[in-house]
Amino acid sequence: MKTRTKLLLGNWKMNKTLKEAKAFAKDSVELSVLAKENNIELGVAPTFLCLEAVKKINPDIIVAAQNLHYEEKGAFTGEISIPMLKEIGINWSIIGHSERRQYNGESSLSCNRKILAMIANDMIPVYCCGETLEEYESGITKAIVRDQIRTGLANVAKEKASKIVVAYEPIWSIGTGVNASKEIAQEVCAFIREVLEEMFGATVAKEIRILYGGSVKPENIKSYLSAKDIDGALVGGASLDIQSFKLLLQNIL
Ligand code: 13P
Repeated sequence: MKTRTKLLLGNWKMNKTLKEAKAFAKDSVELSVLAKENNIELGVAPTFLCLEAVKKINPDIIVAAQNLHYEEKGAFTGEISIPMLKEIGINWSIIGHSERRQYNGESSLSCNRKILAMIANDMIPVYCCGETLEEYESGITKAIVRDQIRTGLANVAKEKASKIVVAYEPIWSIGTGVNASKEIAQEVCAFIREVLEEMFGATVAKEIRILYGGSVKPENIKSYLSAKDIDGALVGGASLDIQSFKLLLQNIL
C-alpha cells in the first residue's frame, strides 16, 4: 500500500498579478528544495494567468489550476479546458471550492464531470467539500459531506481513485479566522475516509490524501497535521506571503 505523503497547497484565489506571482515563484525555489528533502509535497494554485510563469520559474513546485471545464473545447465563453492546461504542464486542479459553489453555481454534479474528465486525462483533482455555518449548527455536517463526496466522486474507477486528493473546508472557517478545532477536523476527515472506503474499499481509502482547509495559519498547522486522518492543508490567506508560506512549511517538517 502506498503511504500518504504530506501535502501543503496554497490556494491564491483571485490574488497576485503576474508580476507578484513571478516574484513569489522565484522565492519559492528554496522552499521546494526544503520540502523535497523532508518528503513533503508543496504546491500553489495561482490564477490561470500565472500558471505557466510559476511553473517555469519553479518546476519543482506543484502548480494547480483553481478550476477547469470538463469539455475539451467549444462554445464555453470564459472557460479553460484540460488540453489547454496540459499543454503548459499543469496536471492538478482544485475542483468544487466552496467559493465556486457559492458564486459560480458549481454543484457536486458538475464537479463530478470535471473530476471524471481529469482522471481520464491523468490529472489530479483536489476535490473540496464542506458545510455552511447553518448546516454545521443544525448538526448535519456529515450528511452534507457524505453527499458531496458520493456525488462528486461517483463513477471514479477504483484503480484511479487513490490519486485523488480531498479537501475538507468547513465554509464557516474559510477566511474568518474561526478555525474548526483539530478534533472536529479530524472527526470529519475520518468520516470522509469511511465514505471513501464504502466507495473504493479499505486499501484505496487509506491511500487517498485528505487535507484540512479553513483559517490554517503557521501557528495552528502543526496541530491539524498531527491528526490521524489529516494529510495536509489547503491554505488561502496565509499562503500568499512567502514568509508565511515558509513558516507553514517549516512548522510541519
Ligand atoms: P483561508 O485559509 O484564507 O481561510 O482559506 C481557506 C481556503 O479556502 C483554501 O482553499
